[in-house]
Amino acid sequence: MIKSVILAAGKGTRMKSKTPKVLHQIFDKTLVGYVIDAVNNTGLIDESFVIVGHQAERVEEYIKSNYTNAKTVLQSPQLGTGHAVSMVCPYLEDFDGEVVILCGDTPLITSETLKKFIEYHKSVNSDITVMSAIFDNPTNYGRIIRNSDNSLNSIVEEKDATDEQKKIKEVNAGIYCLNWAKIKPAFSQLKTNNAQGEYYLTDIIEWGNNNGLSVNANPLENNEEIFGINSKIHLAEASKILNRRTLQKHMENGVTIVDPETTWISTETEIGADTIIYPSCYISGKNKIGSDCKIGPFAHLRGDVILEDGVKVGNFVEVKKSTIHKNTNACHLSYIGDSEIGERVNIGAGTITANYNPLTKVKSKTTLGNDVKIGSNSVLVAPVEIKDGANVGALSVITKNVPEWSLALTRSPLKVVEGWVKRFLNK
Ligand code: UD1
Ligand code: MG
Repeated sequence: MIKSVILAAGKGTRMKSKTPKVLHQIFDKTLVGYVIDAVNNTGLIDESFVIVGHQAERVEEYIKSNYTNAKTVLQSPQLGTGHAVSMVCPYLEDFDGEVVILCGDTPLITSETLKKFIEYHKSVNSDITVMSAIFDNPTNYGRIIRNSDNSLNSIVEEKDATDEQKKIKEVNAGIYCLNWAKIKPAFSQLKTNNAQGEYYLTDIIEWGNNNGLSVNANPLENNEEIFGINSKIHLAEASKILNRRTLQKHMENGVTIVDPETTWISTETEIGADTIIYPSCYISGKNKIGSDCKIGPFAHLRGDVILEDGVKVGNFVEVKKSTIHKNTNACHLSYIGDSEIGERVNIGAGTITANYNPLTKVKSKTTLGNDVKIGSNSVLVAPVEIKDGANVGALSVITKNVPEWSLALTRSPLKVVEGWVKRFLNK
């Protein structure tokens, strides 16, 4: 199996944030999380080393609690990308497979591209393969210098490049596949005699050529995938790109998305065919939405939501950590949290599941059986269970379980005082 090294020690100054750059999020997933998931989803890489430095503890804690096959390695001080990769040498002393190197701030990389890249590396018997990209404006990237036979000669950083080299539009995308056993000796020989005084990872190219290795560059098909996040502006741009990709996939699978411009759907949401998503919905986290559902306009699904076929979640309805079974409607102005709701239920406008006690900080469950009808503006105070077929009258506050097929009502009786208005006006 292949190992990966993910570079994430840099400072990310331009994010202007207390949060380390790679822990910024698109929906509920961190930037480095997208990279690790892409790596894992190749099915070819069994372990990742995340190089951490700036705010190392926070990144380490995140990796530890979210990934079993990734570990962090501290790089302190940060002396360049070559120095960063050399930090894994003690962990890979006897390893003789391939190592793929990536950056932790490029969340748009896909596992399909990584797979193709690794396949290319193997198909040409390469020892060092660099992913390249063609940019109209290559400023700030390392330039790819090819030999006359098209093989890779070297990579020259912007700050070290001659005016002639700066015109080259093929750049280093920052992703590498290395025959580890053959490259490992290079790391103890890197020098800092360059414009930035750093140990450049890119110097392994020349080292490889000088030591008779096979060195190649493989151009990337879609430049979007190596888009690196350096600012909050980039973060917003990357979110848009990722979202557009997700929406396209759903539309190809038969989901109707009325207005892709205002619809946000996380990468971890599944949606069945013939479901319609109306404008201005925000769907984050992991969710499973069935077929023939109607969502929105202006609906908010916050994750761990399962909607079975034919469910309607209408305008200004928020759903979190809940399962809603077939053909149930919650069409207007509701909050449904920590709930299990049966089939053919009608949830009247303004219904709230009061799932959270802010004094005890405990969240509790609301359970509704099949065919339950909840009248408008009711509050269901959890933990509470309303059994099959029961009705709750409008404006009720339900604090006790309601048995099957009964009516529960807490509304005060209606009082009608005839002629009261006229008497008032005549006073
Ligand atoms: C690097 C490449 C350049 C390439 C570009 C692609 C080198 C010398 N140059 O340039 O050819 O076109 O990436 O984006 O490699 N990092 C560490 N420790 C360090 C230094 C950096 O972990 O000591 C991490 C950073 O957090 C970042 C990544 O490595 O995630 C790349 O570093 P950065 O300084 O952004 O590289 P560039 O100068 O852009
Ligand atoms: Mg740099």
